[in-house]
Amino acid sequence: MGATWIHGLGGRDQDLRVPLEHIEGHLLIVGTTGAGKTRAFDLLVTQAVLRDEAVVIIDPKGDQDLRRTAERACALAGRPQRFVYFHPAFPAESVRIDPLHSFSRATELASRVAALIPSETGSDADKARQVLGNINNVVALRVLDAETQKYIAESLPMARVVSIMAAHGSTTDSTNPLLYTGNTGERLMEEEVELFPPGLLGQLPNFEYVALWSGGRVSKGRLPILGAPREAVGTMAQVPVVAELPPTPQAEPMVAAAPE
Ligand SMILES: Nc1ncnc2c1ncn2[C@@H]1O[C@H](COP(=O)(O)OP(=O)(O)O)[C@@H](O)[C@H]1O
Ligand SMILES: [Mg+2]
Repeated sequence: MGATWIHGLGGRDQDLRVPLEHIEGHLLIVGTTGAGKTRAFDLLVTQAVLRDEAVVIIDPKGDQDLRRTAERACALAGRPQRFVYFHPAFPAESVRIDPLHSFSRATELASRVAALIPSETGSDADKARQVLGNINNVVALRVLDAETQKYIAESLPMARVVSIMAAHGSTTDSTNPLLYTGNTGERLMEEEVELFPPGLLGQLPNFEYVALWSGGRVSKGRLPILGAPREAVGTMAQVPVVAELPPTPQAEPMVAAAPE
């Protein structure tokens, strides 16, 4: 999936490390289905658990791989009991959360319930824009949506391309060969180009990303897969082929023959 010729922005490959204080704010990870978002979360969640941080994962899709990752990370950290799970559809497996537990004043109950009810003010688009405005780190995996591509590409700094044009010319006169003129010239040119054109974001291979970190650092990287790679068995979709088409019906005569 994607164009494998897209490679690093710099000269050579190296491990990418981001100082923790650089990702203390908001981090946006975008990518089309199958680009590698959940595998990116595997890495972030596991590292945070191993750093002994509290990790709360709210996953509307209920990705079982991600759940297993979090569970495994707690076990790896030597404290499997740290993993707790909540899903309204699986009460038997879920931890119980009682938002009304332990209160000092009865009015607290009402305000806690009110806090759980989504507010009606502002549209989803307004809220999304507000969130986008607060983002200080962006990791873009393969993005197909043109508007999102534009948003990412516009966040990236422009690149300056410097080139030197050298020219050389000479003229002679065949009737008077001693007359000779020549010239050389050199022109230094500088132009501003897009560091990563928006359309190219749609061609990033799985797990490859372009990231903009707070502080302005831009990197192009590839996520490692945590755990064992999946078996590559049965990855090809079977597309049914129509083996036999029904015979084309013979064209009916347009005008019925007049009865004899
Ligand atoms: N353990 C794995 N080994 C190899 N490929 C994987 C593994 N897990 C996921 N993939 C593949 O890598 C791609 C990215 O997966 P994923 O992170 O789940 O995508 P998404 O962005 O939809 O969350 C998908 O094409 C998926 O089939
Ligand atoms: Mg996913």
